[in-house]
Amino acid sequence: MSPCPIPAPLVTRLRAARRVAVLTGAGISAESGVPTFREAQTGLWARYNPEELATPDAFHRNPKLVWEWYAWRQERVRQAEPNPGHVALVKMERRIAGFTLITQNVDGLHRRAGSHQVLELHGNLFRAKCLDEDRPVENWPDSEEIPPRCPRCGALLRPDVVWFGEMLPAGALRAAEQAAATAEVFFSIGTSALVYPAADLPFTALRAGAMVVEINPQPTPLSSQVSFSLNGPAGEILPALVEQVWGASVPAGGTDT
Ligand code: OAD
Repeated sequence: MSPCPIPAPLVTRLRAARRVAVLTGAGISAESGVPTFREAQTGLWARYNPEELATPDAFHRNPKLVWEWYAWRQERVRQAEPNPGHVALVKMERRIAGFTLITQNVDGLHRRAGSHQVLELHGNLFRAKCLDEDRPVENWPDSEEIPPRCPRCGALLRPDVVWFGEMLPAGALRAAEQAAATAEVFFSIGTSALVYPAADLPFTALRAGAMVVEINPQPTPLSSQVSFSLNGPAGEILPALVEQVWGASVPAGGTDT
């Protein structure tokens, strides 16, 4: 049961829509038990200093600390399961021909829920890359050393995530901008809408004439600009929205990737 009614014009527009884009942030994984970043008591940045953990300088200063912090986050995510919000987006993907899911999350929970097309703007916790060659590295020999080393060139491996001060992956960002510029409906879900360039995407959609919908229990800098602001947890609102638009018979999600 949704904590807030789904607006009728949104239902009508979604039934007819051929192109829908969705931007998600840490809030969509909150109901899976994965901590967000900026919430006052529970957010990661309330407890950890990003300058010591999430910048290229931090890694150069203390690669072991940074690698271990990301290993800890990996472990938390391994213990989590996708929630009904992730699953509702799998159902939406199945209903909309031109559906683009853009995420700032590095937890991989959208794919684990069964979403096929996911643009990961900030990388992925479960991938590493070579610090010198800047290429993904999937396997490396067992060793005591932390971080491990690139099996090809011997440089340190680093998490394949975007740190403060770094560029986003160009291809994913271009595809996200294109999706935002052509969407008939654009959702901003579970993000504080503070981190650029991702935070620009809803504005690109607004300028292009899309219906822009925010789902978040708290207001954000985007809230006053959107067509509809649905205040509540994504894990409750999204399943209610999908059911109202397409009925209860939308095939369930699952780990069918
Ligand atoms: P934030 O922690 O900044 O914001 C999370 C948002 O989720 C807040 O606005 C919450 O109100 C909202 N929220 C909490 N529970 C929710 C729920 N159940 N349903 C819906 N919304 C909920 O996280 P992001 O906006 O994702 O970047 O942060 C953006 C980027 O900043 C992250 O990708 C990360 C961080 O620094 C990097 O690490 C590069």
